[in-house]
Amino acid sequence: MASEKRLEVVTCTAPVNIAVIKYWGKRDEELILPINSSLSVTLHQDQLKTTTTAAINRDFTEDRIWLNGREEDVGQPRLQACLREIRRLARKRRSDGHEDPLPLSLSYKVHVASVNNFPTGAGLASSAAGYACLAYALAQVYGVESDLSEVARRGSGSACRSLYGGFVEWQMGERADGKDSIARQVAPESHWPELRVLVLVVSTERKPTGSTVGMQTSVETSALLRFRAEALVPARMAEMTRCIRERDFQAFGQLTMKDSNQFHATCMDTFPPISYLSDTSRRVIHLVHLFNAHHGQTKVAYTFDAGANAVIFTLDDTVAEFAAAVRHSFPPESNGDKFLKGLPVEPVPLSDELKAALGMDPTPGGIKYIIATQVGPGPQVLDDPGAHLLGPDGLPKAAA
Ligand code: PMV
Repeated sequence: MASEKRLEVVTCTAPVNIAVIKYWGKRDEELILPINSSLSVTLHQDQLKTTTTAAINRDFTEDRIWLNGREEDVGQPRLQACLREIRRLARKRRSDGHEDPLPLSLSYKVHVASVNNFPTGAGLASSAAGYACLAYALAQVYGVESDLSEVARRGSGSACRSLYGGFVEWQMGERADGKDSIARQVAPESHWPELRVLVLVVSTERKPTGSTVGMQTSVETSALLRFRAEALVPARMAEMTRCIRERDFQAFGQLTMKDSNQFHATCMDTFPPISYLSDTSRRVIHLVHLFNAHHGQTKVAYTFDAGANAVIFTLDDTVAEFAAAVRHSFPPESNGDKFLKGLPVEPVPLSDELKAALGMDPTPGGIKYIIATQVGPGPQVLDDPGAHLLGPDGLPKAAA
């Protein structure tokens, strides 16, 4: 019968998030439980998102996954943990007596296809958006409605923060089973409409130490990291929450920069040391401080994750001037017209005073391009069947 051949398929999108209070270090490697709470800003999906289609069908003989059009090993432990976890939650839902919204067996295999709308290999963290999207899509297809923090977290810790829009905290929790280690929205995306984000994509050839191995070594060797997690982060979480609630950009920006610097200090305190910042990253840091000093207040703030790219926070009235300052300090080598992507940024001339204040020797080509974006919403389900990345046969559609 045709209906028995029916394919249950859903397509979702999920955002990238950038932490302003950083997560670094696990207390449980298997469950992915952190040594401190963290707080992030969800970036808008118009500029940066993952799209994932999940399909289940009785005729599928094995779980399969394609990332950016290439089939990947579905046996990787992180992926397996997500699949196990979602199926456990779906079983639990059934045994709790909930009406099953899908007449499909949990034993059915799943096919997953996932793509990013931003260039891979640019060093933009894609695992958070990727695993949040996977968790969300699997939840739709298996009919799971409970909190998905645990599912996303098992893929990549920071992924649980991509399950919500706006400003999101990941509470470290205390329980050994991780049930209280969950993501929670601090404020929605509409809360601070003037806030803008500039992703400065830095040219780099080096492949940085992965976050999994990096944080393991830090936990084992850095006394500074332990001190940070135990003695400093709790107060920083409270202060960052206040800054966001009160839309206090000065304090928000300062704490964001200090927390990024402290995270990179714990990397340097790791033995052997890890350094994620490049010369260009350090030049961006310097530029931000000169720019703020010129204005006599914190108008822009930087943060860096486990890579050389800078993420800049500022307010809408400062974007054009700061983008011009970046272009002045890092003149594009070629593609000058494509230097600014994302939200439109009007070109403005830099004042001679600001040029003199920046006073640095330009570094041509140091920044490949800028993506201008803002705070955005959490994962979405796409209603348009044309959006599915898998065809009726459950295989990736041929790229158009
Ligand atoms: O979730 P992971 O394992 O990719 O770790 C993310 C770590 C940082 O990006 C450096 C900080 C954070 O909180 O996102």
